Amino acid sequence: MLPTFIVVAVFGLYVASVVECRNRLPQRYSDCSHSNSKDKSTDGPTTVHEWVSLAYDWPCDWVEMYYKSKGWYDPAASVLSGIDVYKEDIFVTVQRISSAVPSGLNKVVTRYGKSLLRPYPDLLFNEVGNCSKLQYPLSVTIDPNTGFMYVIDIGKIGLGPVDDGCPAKLVVLNINQGGSLVRSHNFPESVVPKRTNLVNDIVLDYASDNKVRYAYITESSHQQIVVFDFMSNLSWAFHDDTMATDEDRVVTINNAEYPVDVAVDGIAIDSRSEYVYYCSVGSKNLYQVPTLTLRNSSANFTAQRRLVGKKISNSDGIVFGQRNLYYGALGFNAVYRWDVEKDVRTSPLSNISLLTETRVAQDDARGRWVESLKLDTRGYLWFTTTRLHEFFAGKLDTSGRNGANFRISRVYVGEKSSLWRGN
Ligand SMILES: *[C@@H]1O[C@H](CO)[C@@H](O)[C@H](O)[C@H]1NC(C)=O
Ligand SMILES: *[C@@H]1O[C@H](CO)[C@@H](O)[C@H](O)[C@H]1NC(C)=O
Ligand SMILES: *[C@@H]1O[C@H](CO)[C@@H](O)[C@H](O)[C@H]1NC(C)=O
Ligand SMILES: *[C@@H]1O[C@H](CO)[C@@H](O)[C@H](O)[C@H]1NC(C)=O
Ligand SMILES: *[C@@H]1O[C@H](CO)[C@@H](O)[C@H](O)[C@H]1NC(C)=O
Repeated sequence: MLPTFIVVAVFGLYVASVVECRNRLPQRYSDCSHSNSKDKSTDGPTTVHEWVSLAYDWPCDWVEMYYKSKGWYDPAASVLSGIDVYKEDIFVTVQRISSAVPSGLNKVVTRYGKSLLRPYPDLLFNEVGNCSKLQYPLSVTIDPNTGFMYVIDIGKIGLGPVDDGCPAKLVVLNINQGGSLVRSHNFPESVVPKRTNLVNDIVLDYASDNKVRYAYITESSHQQIVVFDFMSNLSWAFHDDTMATDEDRVVTINNAEYPVDVAVDGIAIDSRSEYVYYCSVGSKNLYQVPTLTLRNSSANFTAQRRLVGKKISNSDGIVFGQRNLYYGALGFNAVYRWDVEKDVRTSPLSNISLLTETRVAQDDARGRWVESLKLDTRGYLWFTTTRLHEFFAGKLDTSGRNGANFRISRVYVGEKSSLWRGN
């Protein structure tokens, strides 16, 4: 065993070297892989980045070797998860299923024609074990009006119960200032238990303010929707039976059955911030609840939520544009749209039924496990496909013989992010 001061000194040296080698790098690599918009007229999705195994943009080679030698980097341990885009930049999260994932939050860069994940804001901000850093940032959502990125962090490593983890937290970074920290809020143990939580996805609500007032967060492990009020810094949670899984908790994907017993996960908010929609992965049901209910910590959630209908299949992420809802259809390797603008002609939003579903993209090989979807401010729907079911079943083929495992794709839908206040 090494005396503590040596460990501290070695770590200090390592930190200094990371900073030093980072400073020797050019500020920006060319990242022009998605700057053309020629595919607007074609109706199929375009793969923008793909990987058999995720690869990182290391500050220098020896840092990668150091991480490997410490067991902090195993190329097979990284599984792509959430996405959001801001201007020309794409941000993604990687599941921190083990401590061999070097970085949870990343920006996608292209270097010498290779797609790489560059830790964001940097490698040290993704350091395992320091509770002021990102531990397991599962989802991000970006306010397109301000460039503020809202990151939810499970706080521990891996999906099982952990005794020495950090509290779950909500971290806000300013993309326009290189990802500088705006604020970080630890959730109280009474709302989000740190040992066992799975904070999964997040949407933002301006309410009647001219900036973000509330965040709504699905927490799958305790089957709850957590509300954070940015004005009072208070958080509270609603529990309801509709946040559980049901008889549709097994999905057939490419002729194999997969248990997807994950509770409330997908969450979306309409562009007028009137309703929040949510669903469990292990269910086809889609529910709505008025934002007025969520904003009131003593409201009766159960009395106000409503079943909107059954989607064609189970979904992981869901997202609202300015008019319609987009979601993955896991059993069909597809992305679908609920044509809200059509169905609202039959009944008002407060009593709307999910009737009209339109297929946006489908691909049995390339469209496996549509995980996270976001709309940009130009009319594109972006989504990750991650083969998460194959990973958890131990069936992920990392040889490359079955093609890429992780993809970032986009498809033109002519609709913008529900939060966007510009033209
Ligand atoms: C965690 O990171 C913060 C900010 O960089 C630093 O001040 C603190 O010393 C670190 N804590 C530990 C235990 O390493
Ligand atoms: C909420 O937290 C922010 C950031 O930590 C702080 O600036 C603000 O004063 C807090 N507001 C209240 C009402 O406690
Ligand atoms: C919040 O909900 C409670 C319980 O339904 C109700 O009595 C109260 O009036 C509501 N508050 C607001 C501000 O709507
Ligand atoms: C909330 O509403 C449900 C359904 O309308 C009702 O059964 C329940 O008693 C209500 N709870 C409270 C605390 O009022
Ligand atoms: C709500 O819609 C259903 C059909 O989907 C209809 O039977 C019912 O009357 C409507 N309720 C109201 C209050 O409009």
